[in-house]
Amino acid sequence: MNIALIGSGGRENALCRKLKESKNINQIFCIPGNAGTAKIATNLDIDFLDFKLLLKNLNDNKIKMVIVGPEEPLVKGIVDFLEKNRIKVFGPNKYASQLEGSKAFMKSICKKYNIPTANFQICNNQKDFKKSINKFNLPVVVKADGLAAGKGVVICKTKKQSFEIAKQIFKGKFKSSKKVVLEEFLEGEEASYFLVVDKKSFINFGTAQDHKKVFEKEKGPNTGGMGAYSPAPIIDKNLENKIITRIVKPTLQALKDKKQFYRGFLYVGLMIKNEDPYLIEYNVRMGDPECQVILPRLKTDLFKIISYSLKNQIRKLKLKWEISKCMTIVLCSKGYPGNYKKGKIIRIKRINDKKNLFIIHAGTKLKNGDIYSTGGRVLNIVCKGQNFNQIRKKIIQLIKKINWKNGFYRKDIGWRVIDKL
Ligand code: AMP
Ligand code: GLY
Repeated sequence: MNIALIGSGGRENALCRKLKESKNINQIFCIPGNAGTAKIATNLDIDFLDFKLLLKNLNDNKIKMVIVGPEEPLVKGIVDFLEKNRIKVFGPNKYASQLEGSKAFMKSICKKYNIPTANFQICNNQKDFKKSINKFNLPVVVKADGLAAGKGVVICKTKKQSFEIAKQIFKGKFKSSKKVVLEEFLEGEEASYFLVVDKKSFINFGTAQDHKKVFEKEKGPNTGGMGAYSPAPIIDKNLENKIITRIVKPTLQALKDKKQFYRGFLYVGLMIKNEDPYLIEYNVRMGDPECQVILPRLKTDLFKIISYSLKNQIRKLKLKWEISKCMTIVLCSKGYPGNYKKGKIIRIKRINDKKNLFIIHAGTKLKNGDIYSTGGRVLNIVCKGQNFNQIRKKIIQLIKKINWKNGFYRKDIGWRVIDKL
C-alpha cells in the first residue's frame, strides 16, 4: 500500500524512518517533508491545508492511507474531508481535535467530568477578565483559547502583565480565537503520557519529558521543545493508573456522550504534584521532539499499530518496547524562538547514521544536493543507550562535529534524570 505522511518537522522524519521498517508499505510520500525524509521517501511539495489539491495528489499517487503529523490540519478537519473522499486517515476528526484546538472546550470537559486540572475561568472579554482576575493568586497563567503555535501561554507575575497579555488576545493576536483562559499556576514536575486510541479502546504509547524553555536552567521564553527523553521515570505504574482512570477514561467518555469518538495519537500533558496527575493540556498528535525519543524504543511495527487502530482493534495489540533509554537534543537556528535567519547551509554529509546515534531532520530542505535550514528547530540529534548521562555526552560530541555556526542548543537536556544519577 502507498501511504502519505502529512507534515515537515522532526516528528514526521521520525515517523517516516520508523514506517520504513514495515514490510507492508509500498511507497511513503511525505507532504511536504524535509531534507531527512527526502533521503528515505518521496516528498510532495504541496500545501496540505489546500485539502482539494491534497486529495488530487493522493489520488494521482494511488495513496490509500494518510497519517497526520501536526495539529493544524486536524483542527481544520482534514480527517473529516479525506474520509468523505474514501481515504483512510489516522488522526482525530474535527470535533475530537478541539481537545487541542480549544482550551475552553478541553477545560469544560474537565469541569463536567471532574478531571483534575488547574482551576480556571474562561473570559470572553475585558469585562469578564476584570471580574475574574481577583479570584486568582499570582503568578497566574493567561492562555489564548485557540491554536497559537506554542506562543499562547504566559505565566504572569503581576496583574498588570496579565491585563496586557489578555488585551492582546482579545484584540485578535491569535487568529484562531479571541477568548482567554485564566488559570491557576500549578507547581510540580511536568511529564507527558502518550496513547494510541481508536473507537473502542486505547493503548499506552510511551512516556517522555521535554524542555520547553529556550535556555539552560529552564530560562527564557517557551519554544516547541529544545530536547526530550524517554521514558519519563516519574510515570510509574501507580501514576499511570491514576492518569488512565482520572483523566483518559473520562475524556474519552465525554466524547462518547456526544456520540463522537477519538482516533489517533493522543498526547496527555501533565503536571505531577505529590504523586497526583493534573491535566495541563491535550495534544491531538505525537509530541515534537517527544516522538523522536519514543519511536526508537518501539519494537512493534508502527504500521501494524496504525492499521489496527483504523480497524478499531487496538485492544488486541500488546506493544513491545526496548528497555533502553533515548534522548534528543534539538539544534536550533540562532535567534529562535524570536527572529532567526533561514536558508543557511548545513554540511553534515560525512556523518553516517548509526542504529543508536542518528540525525533526524526538522527545519531543513534539500536543494541541489545541499541541506539548507528552513526553520527554528533544524536538526534533532537522537541517541539510544542504557544511561542518560552517556547518551547526552554522545549527542553533544556529534553536535560538535556538525559544528554549524548558525546554530545553538541546550547542553543540559535531561538534567532531571542526570542529576539524580
Ligand atoms: P500549554 O500550551 O497549555 O501546554 O502550556 C505550555 C506550557 O506552559 C506548559 O508546558 C507548562 O510548562 C506551562 N503551563 C501551562 N499551564 C500551566 C499551569 N496551569 N501551571 C503551571 N504551568 C503551566
Ligand atoms: N513538545 C511539545 C509539543 O509537541 O507540543
